[in-house]
Amino acid sequence: MEDRTYTAIGSSNIAFIKYWGRRDDKINLPNNSSISMTLDKNVGTKTSVLFSDKLERDKLFINGKEENLGEGANEKLRFIGEMLDHYKKAAGINTKVLIVSENNFPSDSGLASSASGGATLAFLLANALDLKMHPREISIMARRISGSACRSVYGGIVKWNAGSKHDGSDSFAEQVVDHKHWPDLMDMIAIVDPSKKKVSSSAGHTVTVRTSTLYKARLQVAEEGVKKVVEAVKDRDFHALAEAVMRDSNNMHATMIDSWPPIMYLNDASRNIIYAVHELNESEGRYVAAYTFDAGSNAHIITTSSNRGKVIKMLEETGVVRSIIESRMGAGPEMLEGEESLIDQESLAPRHNRNPEIGKND
Ligand code: PMV
Repeated sequence: MEDRTYTAIGSSNIAFIKYWGRRDDKINLPNNSSISMTLDKNVGTKTSVLFSDKLERDKLFINGKEENLGEGANEKLRFIGEMLDHYKKAAGINTKVLIVSENNFPSDSGLASSASGGATLAFLLANALDLKMHPREISIMARRISGSACRSVYGGIVKWNAGSKHDGSDSFAEQVVDHKHWPDLMDMIAIVDPSKKKVSSSAGHTVTVRTSTLYKARLQVAEEGVKKVVEAVKDRDFHALAEAVMRDSNNMHATMIDSWPPIMYLNDASRNIIYAVHELNESEGRYVAAYTFDAGSNAHIITTSSNRGKVIKMLEETGVVRSIIESRMGAGPEMLEGEESLIDQESLAPRHNRNPEIGKND
């Protein structure tokens, strides 16, 4: 195989109806379907790959730091190793690969990057190896790294069908509408705490399923929520969308607090923002903003362009927001032709020599 580098850029997503809890922890099969908005490339990951016989082993660099893919690697990195083997088998090669991946959103923002990084890598490998894979198959590959990554394989609004098969072949994401459908929908990410979360989402999924007495009820609520969000998105009905989004975030976090030992991702700053959003909506007499929180304390405020100013004012007035990242609906991963690769082909090493302490993936 010819030595050349390939580069792609992809982005993160924010779930409107959340994935929480798995029926299979090894290949990330969820208990409920979920739906998300793929974000723009300002909350994204750029990744380059080079397959070469000159490499003595597979190598992965994330934000300037080399990660261990072999023995002793953490779960997500082990999944990347397995995914690589899968791709190489499909391409009929045994060539070693160098992967260099960098997030383009502030590395101290506390935002998880595994969805963005996982989807970008799954997409890039399929294209670099010219495997002509259906996006569904790429979504299944991305799912193995991080469940939520399977939704970032597409742009726009994306639904992940839980599926029921043991091998996960029916648990993939599909696009509901593309990014042009509702161009003024926004996600204003309010950073309140940039530190790393105490309980990884991976550990949290397992504890909640095992111990929460509320969890069973959530599964029904979430499936209904997905249907409501699909309708709201198709009709561009912000009122219906906002209520479904806020209720689902609260519902998921209720099952987390009900876990044993309890998992609490929300903090005082998050709660301040929740109250402020309700006050803003009340004073407007309609929903102009909706909050949603993943496995962390930072708030995602879903709003529309015309209410952007009101949301910024509301967030500033809480006094708890360190910074705001504004994003919109993104188009999904794409190959970058003719742009500078992150790999220096001569030295078979990353081109950028970044501080290894910044921007750790989780
Ligand atoms: O993909 P994971 O294992 O990091 O889980 C993500 C779970 C949430 O972000 C809390 C919800 C979601 O659907 O993205």
